[in-house]
Amino acid sequence: MSASNALLPLVDSFGRVHTNLRISVTDRCNIRCFYCMPAENVQFMNRRELLTFEEIERFVRVAVPLGLNQIRLTGGEPLVRKDLHVLVAKLAAIPEIIDIGLTTNGILLADQAKLLYEAGLRRINVSLDALDPKKFEEITRRTGYEKVLEGIVAAQEAGFSPVKVNAVAIRGLTEPELVPFGHFARKAGVEIRFIEFMPLDADNAWEREKVLFAHEIIETLSREIMPLVPVAGQNRNAPATEYVFEDGVGRIGFISSVSQPFCGSCDRFRITADGKLRNCLFSLDETDVKSLLRGEADDATIAQAIRDSIAAKKEGHEINTARFIQPLRPMHSIGG
Ligand code: 5AD
Ligand code: SF4
Repeated sequence: MSASNALLPLVDSFGRVHTNLRISVTDRCNIRCFYCMPAENVQFMNRRELLTFEEIERFVRVAVPLGLNQIRLTGGEPLVRKDLHVLVAKLAAIPEIIDIGLTTNGILLADQAKLLYEAGLRRINVSLDALDPKKFEEITRRTGYEKVLEGIVAAQEAGFSPVKVNAVAIRGLTEPELVPFGHFARKAGVEIRFIEFMPLDADNAWEREKVLFAHEIIETLSREIMPLVPVAGQNRNAPATEYVFEDGVGRIGFISSVSQPFCGSCDRFRITADGKLRNCLFSLDETDVKSLLRGEADDATIAQAIRDSIAAKKEGHEINTARFIQPLRPMHSIGG
């Protein structure tokens, strides 16, 4: 590898530049959302398989000169990983990293929000698919609804602004939740983001008919509460399209991964908790970075492995075609 090559950004064969890394810190979770995990007998990774915080930090420091500047921590449920704030502090100390986010189910958030904020975390997305506690239990197959609400408030009090709430939009389940979520966005000052249900569930229960599309949600909220209008000046390449109620109160975002894939502007790559590099949520191949980190590999070798993975990235997911093949890893071990 030449020295000049070492400084080139992470560009794939479609010209997409990769600056955004999602780090899964564990595949464990304290709930069992049906669209992500099987109900019983989940085989979790052995703890020795998980990258240590030091290994994660080294990987990030190798990727930073290649253009990495934005990180999101995911799981499983990232807050079940002991002392996550220690990792946040290590990553926040890297000057090139301008943004660190976390996607959590919120159950342990009330206890950790302040520590995380103080460690340098600035963005939080809380996954909450229903405001009706019974429906929450139906979807997650666990209790904990009150804890999630407490976690959202604790995050706001700790200084996170705005706190975003992710709700997977599933036909047959989400419809009665739409209006309550609309009012929640207006009253609680959180941004609700509806994510189209994607075929990443462990039970292979996904069908196109179960995706509740953004335009249907916009229609319902506009009719039942008041018209939603697109937020001006948005980055058209961002995964979420943002709307606001016409009186300016209450933001609603849409991540239309199925009906309007944003693969064309994708800047993301991922590392799983057991150290496998994935160039796409839906990729079928992965690169074993853990054995490089634990072997004798120098930084240049790891950097080249990252380049090779990005170079091999496919144009996008093919959910809307007959060619689509669901990855073997379910969502909880890829990391959302
Ligand atoms: N479809 C859409 N979103 C999903 N998530 C997990 N599994 C799926 C799926 N099959 C979302 C969670 C959370 C994030 C980690 O990914 O709701 O917001
Ligand atoms: Fe990026 Fe793959 Fe997601 Fe498309 S499906 S946005 S390429 S990670």
